[in-house]
Amino acid sequence: MNMVALIEKKKTGQALTQEEITFFVNGAATGSIPDYQLAAMLMAIRLNGMTDEETTQLTLAMRDSGDVADLSAIPGIKVDKHSTGGVGDTTTLILAPLVAACGVPVAKMSGRGLGHTGGTLDKLESIPGLSVEEDEATFIRQVNDIGLAVIGQTGSLAPADKTLYALRDVTATVDSLPLIASSIMSKKLASGADGIVLDVKTGSGAIMHTLEGSMELAKAMVAIGKLAGKPVTAVITGMEQPLGTHVGNALEVKDAIDVLSGRTKGALLEVSLLLGSHMLKLAGKAATLDEGKAMLQKALDSGRGLEKLKAMIAAQGGDPNVCDDISLLPQAKVIRQVTAGCTGYTADMDTVALGNAAQLMGAGRVLKTDIIDPAVGFVLHTRIGDKLTPDTPFVTLYAKSEEDADKAEAAIRKAIAISGTPVAVPPLVYAVVTADGVETF
Ligand code: URA
Repeated sequence: MNMVALIEKKKTGQALTQEEITFFVNGAATGSIPDYQLAAMLMAIRLNGMTDEETTQLTLAMRDSGDVADLSAIPGIKVDKHSTGGVGDTTTLILAPLVAACGVPVAKMSGRGLGHTGGTLDKLESIPGLSVEEDEATFIRQVNDIGLAVIGQTGSLAPADKTLYALRDVTATVDSLPLIASSIMSKKLASGADGIVLDVKTGSGAIMHTLEGSMELAKAMVAIGKLAGKPVTAVITGMEQPLGTHVGNALEVKDAIDVLSGRTKGALLEVSLLLGSHMLKLAGKAATLDEGKAMLQKALDSGRGLEKLKAMIAAQGGDPNVCDDISLLPQAKVIRQVTAGCTGYTADMDTVALGNAAQLMGAGRVLKTDIIDPAVGFVLHTRIGDKLTPDTPFVTLYAKSEEDADKAEAAIRKAIAISGTPVAVPPLVYAVVTADGVETF
């Protein structure tokens, strides 16, 4: 097959056949097609789109470009959860232990931070000693022993996505619906779960900024799941502002521990309980979402959720005492309290800019080779709609140096608009999309 002819075909808006897509994807996985031709194809797809049939074929070819995990040695229905990416989005560290504490095995492969968004693996690695690298046998043994494991995806899972994602990142082709849908779903299908709950973010910090775009993405991924024979529930949730109050790796672990200890309530807990109850429903453990939510709340109130997190940390070589003594997590050199300094109402947030501010402090990678500083980031004390006076706590910065704190403070102030008149609080949940249809809120 001739790659130039395939690029020409997509360039002129024609649909590719299954064989052509498989050829292109296998070329990406094995390295037999050079990056410049892959990049040209990605841009042609970004500009001309793909039919539903092409998107499904692309997903399946990417899934089959490597190993598909076999979780059959873990008894019970395994349900995975995936977020399309956000800021202060620490739901995995809360819902995974809670769902496991309700008796549903959680065998989760997570990702690293990407651009302005944080990644579960980077957060977990801020816990002293903890490893996210396990072979499949150890992973399965851990889930069978304690009901829970969160590790990095093995290199043999969807290798075509690895190549294509890295190219998309540097060729302005990330924001393509068929490319996002196939990238996420190929990895989820390859990770071997029986059902999948997707948290599709919408708003200024999401990969899709508009509700229409997020809805289209959610529908595309649910349709792919249906064709692949896996039940998928996509919940569209707001990313107009960071979900949790803490942004940064150790800070987000602390946020999760605070939630699991019952010390923190709010948006992060609410979305975690909602996604977790969808997981319990897909696993057949709860008949309704209300029942699921009550089970998760009970696991939280009794401390069983926090105990599960401790067991997972210990099983993966980390120090579980961090759950009782937060000071065991990495600490920043400079801690600066910043007040609002004005009167008004917290209005729109540029959430990408907030994520970038944390990234530039060292919480994320600017270059692939960058080493993350687990201690840095910030805690946002205000949410959209809050009333401010000059002395209202606004943000606490955790930085490597005073200079970094100055830069972050300026970037955060610039990213948050203040209004002179009251501001409506944006919804936390917009819609739930399943194969049966769309429910909006
Ligand atoms: N997350 C992914 O894994 N892939 C994308 O394309 C976007 C978000």
